[in-house]
Amino acid sequence: MATMNIAIEIGTSHTSVYLESAGVVLREPTAVAYVGDGDNKSVVAVGERAMSMMGKTPDKTTVVCPVVDGYIVDVDACKAMMSEYIKRILPVSYIFFPKIKAILVTPTGLTVDERKVYEDVVLQAGVAEVTLVDNVIATALGFDLPIASPAGGFVVNIGGGITEIALISVCGIISGCSVNVGGSMMDRALMDYLVGKYGLKVGGLTARRIREEIGTLYNNDVSYLEVKGININTLTPSTQCVYAEDTCAALLPYYARIADAIQGVTNLCPPELSSSVQGSGVFVAGGCAKIPGVEKVLGEILEIPVTVAEEPELVSVLGAGKLIGNKDLIKQIRSQQ
Ligand SMILES: Nc1ncnc2c1ncn2[C@@H]1O[C@H](COP(=O)(O)OP(=O)(O)OP(=O)(O)O)[C@@H](O)[C@H]1O
Ligand SMILES: [Mg+2]
Repeated sequence: MATMNIAIEIGTSHTSVYLESAGVVLREPTAVAYVGDGDNKSVVAVGERAMSMMGKTPDKTTVVCPVVDGYIVDVDACKAMMSEYIKRILPVSYIFFPKIKAILVTPTGLTVDERKVYEDVVLQAGVAEVTLVDNVIATALGFDLPIASPAGGFVVNIGGGITEIALISVCGIISGCSVNVGGSMMDRALMDYLVGKYGLKVGGLTARRIREEIGTLYNNDVSYLEVKGININTLTPSTQCVYAEDTCAALLPYYARIADAIQGVTNLCPPELSSSVQGSGVFVAGGCAKIPGVEKVLGEILEIPVTVAEEPELVSVLGAGKLIGNKDLIKQIRSQQ
């Protein structure tokens, strides 16, 4: 039977699948639309199509985001979504369903029961064998950091739901933490900011679009975007110019919180590793690291070198992909989990 080796990340915002020898073959929103309820639910769309239905569905159709703040909260929806994604990556013509082996990125430091939830989701979606890897380890691998050596690397992943921070040495985590700052919280902050400044209420998807299109941590950026929302005073539809400097004002405090959390982890760094951390600095991944100015802001607060990946949203899944076929490294990582 043919074997397919893949790596998967089921993130709060996006789910990505890497296929051996092909690269990232799927990246879609972590979203499911279904009709009915209870045992009579049936999936009508997943990913991009499900997201496009958000807020526009008739009564009997519901769109859910099954991962919240980094963790799977709707197991059934997640399984349904993953089954569909596994079908999509199968070769166009196959006689027998291939044996699929997956490396699955999970939030760092899950309990045994939580790990079982993640395993079950992919096993029931058609994967035959699964190996779990902590997001911070996958992030370090994505940066090609020498995780098996002493002081292998200091990494941060700022995702759609959570930010994970860890100092990694000899395949394990020396110190680290997760904070629930991510894209979703930043969208809410931006929504509140626009209500306060312009009396404009926008939806979460609009807030995300503003963040992704003109979001910045530079306070001298003059770009702007016209957005539609509701004027909260007149309760009528309204169009408003939102400026990049608005995003800076609303979002900077969240990146400062991330910097504080990173500082907290560096403070716990054993003296033996301190000089190596000061020298190589911190490696930053996750989609929210795409905002212009992140390197500057973190660098100024932390006073250590900051390296942001070119495609930060793909670092974890690419890192997990590097474990495919690498039994020795998997064994070393497992022995530290
Ligand atoms: N250009 C951009 N500027 C700012 N943020 C961006 C940009 N592009 C994408 N993002 C944000 O990146 C986030 C998605 O990143 P990523 O795929 O790393 O998260 P995730 O893996 O789904 O979430 P998590 O790991 O927290 O569960 C979204 O919140 C998205 O809005
Ligand atoms: Mg992620």
